[in-house]
Amino acid sequence: MMRVGLVGWRGMVGSVLMQRMREEKDFDHFEPVFFTTSNPGGKGPDIGRDVPPLKDARDIAELKAMDAIISCQGGDYTKEVYGDLRAAGWNGYWIDAASTLRMKDDAIIILDPVNKNVIKDGLTKGVKTYVGGNCTVSLMLMAIGGLFDKGLIEWISPMTYQAASGAGARNMRELIQQMGAIDSEVKALVNDPASAILEIDRKVAEFIRSDRYPVDAWPVPLAGSLIPWIDVALESGQSKEEWKAQVECNKILGRSGNQIPIDGLCVRIGAMRCHSQALTIKMSKDVPLDEIHAIIGAHNDWVKVVPNDREITMKDLTPAAVTGTLTVPVGRMRKLNMGPQYLSAFTVGDQLLWGAAEPLRRMLRILIE
Ligand code: HSE
Repeated sequence: MMRVGLVGWRGMVGSVLMQRMREEKDFDHFEPVFFTTSNPGGKGPDIGRDVPPLKDARDIAELKAMDAIISCQGGDYTKEVYGDLRAAGWNGYWIDAASTLRMKDDAIIILDPVNKNVIKDGLTKGVKTYVGGNCTVSLMLMAIGGLFDKGLIEWISPMTYQAASGAGARNMRELIQQMGAIDSEVKALVNDPASAILEIDRKVAEFIRSDRYPVDAWPVPLAGSLIPWIDVALESGQSKEEWKAQVECNKILGRSGNQIPIDGLCVRIGAMRCHSQALTIKMSKDVPLDEIHAIIGAHNDWVKVVPNDREITMKDLTPAAVTGTLTVPVGRMRKLNMGPQYLSAFTVGDQLLWGAAEPLRRMLRILIE
């Protein structure tokens, strides 16, 4: 049986990964060895059978004994350990949730419902490093992979509405604190039917701008507002999150040498763990909407075409409906006024599942197949 080291399984992405692995009985198919950066010798997690005591995640000799390693420990850990481990002669499979190694030539970005051919090809060629994609990129590809597959896309402009979880667990907590703090600030007025809405609004605005509003994890207020910038600034004027859309998407599809232009704005909103995106798609030809629906719906087992109907859209195409599920709905599809080759779409997906944990566990299953 393959010996698989798991690092970072206690964090948010790691916990989702563990939950999914238990649900899918992945642990029946390999020998898990749990590593820790803080508690070597401690007790491993409950996976329904005995596991050895926790090993030191910085011990290169222990890591070298693994056939594969899955890391959800974050980019700093990857930077610290990966080079030394390879330099020490380790030739096992490194499967990583962090972005550190994503764009390296000898790494493949994994999203097997979309690029199983690229992954299989990599395995045949002896590629040993497999990295999960950026969450918005992966979720967009899960939604409209069919259109890419059929060569129907000339360019895409995705405008994102990204959830707090993409910034981390602390940020999710602080978003809730911000929501609660706003409520507390004006509770009495809100509960008084005779109060004036503009007075409530003024108090809320003052509070959001005041130093009593909780901002520690976030750089500026999120609840009651939004943040139109995600990640660092690049010289192009893009944020790094925006830059990733084109380079990662094309790399996932194995077409880095012949890139489809993909560019838009990434915005943080006060959702918990579902990223949403509004897509403007320039298609390479005029395809009727019913054919587009059929192509998109047939691409994978998780995408769900939502008809462009008000009631169904409001019920099914929201973070509230999708959170905690692997379903990737895509709807609001219609031809735009710009012409019959211009398609709109709106899609929602759980960024901790397809956007982070799920491609990692599926990669392991591909290795075990
Ligand atoms: N960078 C993403 C975000 C999450 O901030 O939402 C990780 O892919």
